[in-house]
Amino acid sequence: MTTAIAPHGGQLINRLASTAEAEEIRTRAGGLPRLTLSARESADLDLIAVGAMSPLAGFMDRADYQRTVGEMRLADDTLWSLPITLSAPPEAAAALGAGSEAALHDAAGRLVGIIEVAEVYPYDKQAEARNVFGTDDEDHPGVASVYRQHDLLVGGAVTVVEREELEEVLRPYRQDPAETRAAFAGRDWRTIVGFQTRNPVHRAHEYIQKAALEIVDGLLLHPLVGETKPDDIPADVRMRCYEALLEGYYPAGHVHLSVLPAAMRYAGPKEAVFHALLRKNYGCTHFIVGRDHAGVGSYYGTYEAQDLLRSLPPDDLGITPLYFDHSFYCRRCEGMASMKTCPHGAEERVILSGTQVRDMLAAGQVPPMEFTRPEVARILMETAA
Ligand code: ADX
Repeated sequence: MTTAIAPHGGQLINRLASTAEAEEIRTRAGGLPRLTLSARESADLDLIAVGAMSPLAGFMDRADYQRTVGEMRLADDTLWSLPITLSAPPEAAAALGAGSEAALHDAAGRLVGIIEVAEVYPYDKQAEARNVFGTDDEDHPGVASVYRQHDLLVGGAVTVVEREELEEVLRPYRQDPAETRAAFAGRDWRTIVGFQTRNPVHRAHEYIQKAALEIVDGLLLHPLVGETKPDDIPADVRMRCYEALLEGYYPAGHVHLSVLPAAMRYAGPKEAVFHALLRKNYGCTHFIVGRDHAGVGSYYGTYEAQDLLRSLPPDDLGITPLYFDHSFYCRRCEGMASMKTCPHGAEERVILSGTQVRDMLAAGQVPPMEFTRPEVARILMETAA
């Protein structure tokens, strides 16, 4: 019998309505003020409901919000790095007060849940941007997304009646934290390393995943499939790449492929902490953090995410980060290596930026096999054509 890692805060939250409760909420919701959620908010709502965001049971009230933004803590001191908020325009917020309820609808107009309003409060978007993203530059995609939010925040516990819609190809890969935990227990894995990713899998990813797998029982490949910026490769293509790679190069007995239906914030170091905490809730004991984790452009230093994680009290984090240096194929080493393990010069190393790869694909050029497995390159070429 294996003992699973405790969820963040101690207990896996469940805010999914039972069938009877859902029916009752649907009847009641017609008479309630209505809030329409953004893609990020809808995704967060679903993640809260299934416990991926444990210990959060709803969108943040002012005390949790302020301490998260200022000190990376919830009001009760629990480590937490990103604000999980629901914004509302003043007209809609005027109908809400402490103790009232609002019906939550997604962008398609579906009733997805309700919020028991604890508080409606103003917030400073620039201050949030500077504290969370380290910049208030509106060219930063995560900052731009905060600036697009409405001007008031609504905090309170939520109950969900309808799950987030996922594209058909992703649905078989959706597993809630209770399910991944059960899967790990069923396979008798005691130690599991989680891998966050938003990009098409390449050989440096494979290298650090397998290096990590050498010291744990199982690998949870956990691509993020919520909203990403428009020039990122779509989730369905990335999943096909993983399917091809798993078939050809991974040991089925030690790998589990599932998806994280969260929106990407591009918040670098603070998002790395968030990504680690969510994977702890899914049952991972270890978490991979490589170069410029969750970064965008040149907003963050290559190892800033690692530095932040290293600075946190290990018991507060609970999950163990595994750090990897910038990795690549080296012709002299005749294999994958990293800045830490390879003594050769840049001329021997096959390093391609995301932009270079996108340009190659757009020009109909196959990325080299030292960078991407041919099976993956083929899928990327087909979809770029
Ligand atoms: S991220 O936004 O999800 O971090 P990406 O999918 O590229 O982007 O990265 C997934 C994980 O692999 C992150 O932990 C990242 O730091 C790591 N990583 C990506 N490329 C490399 C590389 N060449 N060397 C080392 N780590 C890498």
